[in-house]
Amino acid sequence: MAQLFTPFQLKNITLKNRIGIPPMCQYSADQDGLANAWHQQHYAELARGGAGLVVVEATAVSPEGRISPNCLGLWNDEQANELKRIAQSIKANGSVPGIQIAHAGRKASANRPWDGDDHLAEGDPRGWDTIAPSAVAFGANLPKTPKEMTRADIERVTQDFVAAAQRALDAGFEWLELHFAHGYLAQSFFNRDANQRTDEYGGDKEGRSKFILDTFKAVRAIWPQELPLTARFGVLEYDNHDEETLQESIWLAQQLKDNGLDLLSVSVGFSTPDVKIPWGPSMLANVAERVRRETGLPVSSAWGFDQPQDAERAVVEGQLDQVLIGRAYLANPRYTYQLAKALEEEQASSVLPAPYAYWLARY
Ligand SMILES: Cc1cc2nc3c(=O)[nH]c(=O)nc-3n(C[C@H](O)[C@H](O)[C@H](O)COP(=O)(O)O)c2cc1C
Repeated sequence: MAQLFTPFQLKNITLKNRIGIPPMCQYSADQDGLANAWHQQHYAELARGGAGLVVVEATAVSPEGRISPNCLGLWNDEQANELKRIAQSIKANGSVPGIQIAHAGRKASANRPWDGDDHLAEGDPRGWDTIAPSAVAFGANLPKTPKEMTRADIERVTQDFVAAAQRALDAGFEWLELHFAHGYLAQSFFNRDANQRTDEYGGDKEGRSKFILDTFKAVRAIWPQELPLTARFGVLEYDNHDEETLQESIWLAQQLKDNGLDLLSVSVGFSTPDVKIPWGPSMLANVAERVRRETGLPVSSAWGFDQPQDAERAVVEGQLDQVLIGRAYLANPRYTYQLAKALEEEQASSVLPAPYAYWLARY
């Protein structure tokens, strides 16, 4: 049996295999962060494909935390009601329903990728003021200078994460991912270029980790112990300070683990433009393995694990506990069956209860 197709238990949740579909923004909400028919269909389709876990895209904890005006939100009950139908549908179609809750910080108020992927123009009625640890712009396509957050802002956003987590739980999600990655708000607190604060939220690694740890602890206090609470974090930036950043990231991961983190989704920081990222197959395999070994945390990772042998090797060699595959599932929501075919997987139980008829389609 392929190791990729073995069950993976985290807390009281047993995933039927080690394939997870990571959060992928659809930029398809018509208004007010509300999921619509597109999202319902999209997530049901992904769940039918047989992956153990489907994580709903970055869903903002507050209006100004959306990347674009078309991103999902979870700051009110109306939004939670629509997401509840998605959680039910993912579960009914055989996957564990997960959701990523997020705040985009200085990268917010942006156009959708196909509308330019840049900040909405000054004066665009759809745009809003952005907030960040310091009044430092990301640059490049995202030049807008954010407002430096006051302590009250910081505490409010932490509470927004808690409220969104509670709504996610009430909506039936069984796996929560806190988006601490990709240059958005939490990652920019950790990043020494983005965070130039001189108060207790800045400075050394302890200060730059305070927002992340405080938010994590506040969510952990309300998220049930028996359900997985995970985080996505960029452990390096590919900016020539990688060993130092990685060491600080491993320290932070250890703090998160000591406070109840169940799994870390190892990713890239994306905090500064113009870095040279060595895109390629299994790009983060060794980095993830190191985080896993040094912290003892279960880890997952994406970015180039989509080829069957690469995905299988990451599990067999102990680099990843769970393999995240994104774009291949956008191209083909039944990608699991292609993986099963390539790895000569014969156990239908590793993808069921996705319809058996689909399982037959691997030939
Ligand atoms: C259309 C699209 C939207 C994405 N949205 C998110 C997101 O909401 N949250 C996140 O953490 N990563 C997001 N990502 C990154 C993916 O989760 C994943 O890491 C990336 O696609 C690399 O994995 P892959 O090589 O298997 O595609 C997105 C990627 C794509 C292609």
